[in-house]
Amino acid sequence: MKILVTGGAGYIGSHTCVELLNKNYQVIILDNFSNSKKEVLDKIRFLTGKDMKLYEGNMLDKKFLMNIFQENEIDCVIDFAAYKAVGESVKKPVEYYTNNVSSVLNLLDVMQKSNCKSLVFSSSATVYGDPKTVPITEEAEIGGTTNPYGTSKLFVEQILKDLYQSDNEWNICILRYFNPVGAHPSGLIGEDPKGIPANLVPYISKVASGKLESLSIFGNDYDTKDGTGIRDYIHVVDLALGHIKAVEKLCKVKKGLHIYNLGIGIGYSVLDLVKTFESVNCVKINYKISPRRAGDIAICYSDPTKAKKELGFEPSKTLEDMLKDAWNYEKNS
Ligand code: UD1
Repeated sequence: MKILVTGGAGYIGSHTCVELLNKNYQVIILDNFSNSKKEVLDKIRFLTGKDMKLYEGNMLDKKFLMNIFQENEIDCVIDFAAYKAVGESVKKPVEYYTNNVSSVLNLLDVMQKSNCKSLVFSSSATVYGDPKTVPITEEAEIGGTTNPYGTSKLFVEQILKDLYQSDNEWNICILRYFNPVGAHPSGLIGEDPKGIPANLVPYISKVASGKLESLSIFGNDYDTKDGTGIRDYIHVVDLALGHIKAVEKLCKVKKGLHIYNLGIGIGYSVLDLVKTFESVNCVKINYKISPRRAGDIAICYSDPTKAKKELGFEPSKTLEDMLKDAWNYEKNS
């Protein structure tokens, strides 16, 4: 079975390609390397002992996209290709909507014309905005996003719903990720943000390695057990395996629009992360308490029941595994 993985050289994309190749899927990667490095491909080959096809280019180029579908009989697409820096999206909304929404419209048009109607789409828990209750089920209200990145995910979800409404032959799986962290246990692939990391775990890793001086904890006055923000962190390898389950589901059901939360269903605070990182890795994390970050919410964690029941998806890695692997990758890179 041939799977086109857009953004396959990126953080979640590369881990998913490893798991797809391990399961003997044929993988075609489309990437423009705007936020990833070509060396990742050699690492994927090394980890799996298998090869994949590469198309380097931009999804905004429809001819290029069409060419990929003409040259390959693609059974299913996993679409990871998107910008994902929340702060940057506020400064560059046009770039974000173009890259995250227009590119998907191109992809859907080309898929439709090529009669390939199976798609797994990377969405985010950010579509829930500030949830009224936790744990969050897939039925919870969506909307109230606070930045163009989040809104771009919301828009694409709506586009996919409208598309399915218009043509029930489509077979779509929307995956709403909670907080993907960690790295491949080999330490060869992981998250490599450009510049100063905006997300918690990459930032902690850089403080541990001495590349950054100290972590700013954004607020300790939230209504949570220790006052710091609570999130549902999921190991990136578990998340990658969730995509395999989604592809298997699409193969089985043939048509439909399905939405799943991918999280572990446990909320950990920022201080839980700092303490666990210190204890599993025997390092010291300097931190200070800073004001809340604009747009942050107090608590966000998933109800993972639906993915478990319908996809058979059960993440197995603990917070300790996530933070051990994050540190291993940091030391390696
Ligand atoms: C963020 C995005 C979300 C995106 C996700 C991708 C925002 C508002 N949301 O989620 O849309 O899908 O990344 O992984 O940016 N924290 C600190 N100090 C730091 C960094 C973070 O205290 O230097 C805290 C935050 O306040 C939060 C927690 O750590 O409570 C997690 O933050 P982060 O890793 O940035 O993820 P989210 O904000 O949950």
